Amino acid sequence: MKKRDKFIVFEGGEGSGKTTVARFILQTLENLGLKTLLTHEPGGTKLGTDIRKILLYGENIHPRTELLLFLADRAEHVERTIKPALAEGKIVICDRFDGSTFAYQGGARAVDFDLILVMNAFAKDNLVPDLYILFDVSPEIGLNREGKNVTRFEKEELDLHRRVRRAYLSMARNDDEHWAIVDAEQPLEDVKQKVLEIFKKRKII
Ligand code: TYD
Repeated sequence: MKKRDKFIVFEGGEGSGKTTVARFILQTLENLGLKTLLTHEPGGTKLGTDIRKILLYGENIHPRTELLLFLADRAEHVERTIKPALAEGKIVICDRFDGSTFAYQGGARAVDFDLILVMNAFAKDNLVPDLYILFDVSPEIGLNREGKNVTRFEKEELDLHRRVRRAYLSMARNDDEHWAIVDAEQPLEDVKQKVLEIFKKRKII
């Protein structure tokens, strides 16, 4: 019998609606009586909350430093939050995980991909998500949807966000066993339904 998928990651560029959809999915799973955890990166732990502030609002952070901070956040998150929840049999939904590192630090900031592969494997202690859902939206649309807390990333030029999108699409298209792509330019209600369909098709619910 197929192992039940438990660790699901939501990925996407800015303003893709994934956080809103994650909350909706969590509610749906809880209504079904399933044990769940919704968490996020950066910042899914106490230490991570401090790292998040630096990453999103710090000034003049070198790309190597940036990578190390995201990975430090991940190591802490995997050990303190994700592994314990999985051990309790919870379905873990994570708003961003290592897909973001490959898209932003790899694709957009051009840090060497193979290096990220090795360092990330160390940081996450080789934990592999069962499924990544990519909320695909063009940066022109996504950035216009963003709220008022403008982070370091949202201030970046459009071209960086285009590289992020390209990297995400290339990862997802090359690995459809682990990735599903949702058109996040549709109305939010349709995106929610699409994600629910994916959960059913992949036998998560
Ligand atoms: P956040 O406000 O949580 O993004 P969103 O609401 O769009 O999910 O900000 C997280 C930012 O950090 C986002 O711009 C993507 C970036 N990021 C990376 O560059 N690398 C990473 O490994 C992670 C987890 C996030």
